[in-house]
Amino acid sequence: MTCCTGPCAAASHFNPKKADRDLRRYQRHGPDISTRILLSEIRRWPLQGLHLLDVGAGIGVIALELAGAGLAGVTLADASADYLEAARRHLASRDASLRAQFILGDFAATAGSLPDADIVTLDRVVCCYPDVEALLRGAAARARRIVAFTYPRDEWYVRAGFVVENSWYRLRQDPFRAFVHSPQRMASVLESAGFVRAARLAKLQWALDLYRRA
Ligand SMILES: C[S@@+](CC[C@H](N)C(=O)[O-])C[C@H]1O[C@@H](n2cnc3c(N)ncnc32)[C@H](O)[C@@H]1O
Repeated sequence: MTCCTGPCAAASHFNPKKADRDLRRYQRHGPDISTRILLSEIRRWPLQGLHLLDVGAGIGVIALELAGAGLAGVTLADASADYLEAARRHLASRDASLRAQFILGDFAATAGSLPDADIVTLDRVVCCYPDVEALLRGAAARARRIVAFTYPRDEWYVRAGFVVENSWYRLRQDPFRAFVHSPQRMASVLESAGFVRAARLAKLQWALDLYRRA
């Protein structure tokens, strides 16, 4: 697989054009469905004074949406410099008081050097990366309380869609690929790191798992 043998393929795939498109979609329609599911589950937990680490933060929607919940600070980590810059501008334009730091790089490589956070989120990120164990191991290592992540459901129609999507990337000579990872494999990474599943929700294409430290 070509993604992330050196600099992550996501870094060039998630370019300024896509960041602009995501920003306009968010401004018109609010958070996408997977983000809405994740936010609604996270909001069930007390957030006051906690630190959030959003991995694969994109344009910073989760940090923005949770800004009013009394978080002490947020860290946005992303492999794409263009998305991280878009997130920085987006957050600054919407909430100058939010304490945010921005970490560029492949999270599988940067996780070890990041400070711990109470809550770690990955919204539609594991599907961008071949080594899901490395991403989730990193998330579990940094999370004091909760790891919540959304992922494409392991269903035939989702897999079929990804085959078409990946053929399109191949045709365009884009080394980025999208992945449907096994929910069992992902669960076993978090369980071996001492987490228990507190919620699982599924919509047509996306699922959410929320784990808390046992
Ligand atoms: C599909 S976008 C989702 C963005 C945002 N979480 C959302 O749901 O709107 C995936 C994001 O994850 C980032 N990403 C993918 N693999 C990554 C990795 N290994 N480390 C850090 N960020 C990664 C990409 O650069 C991109 O911004």
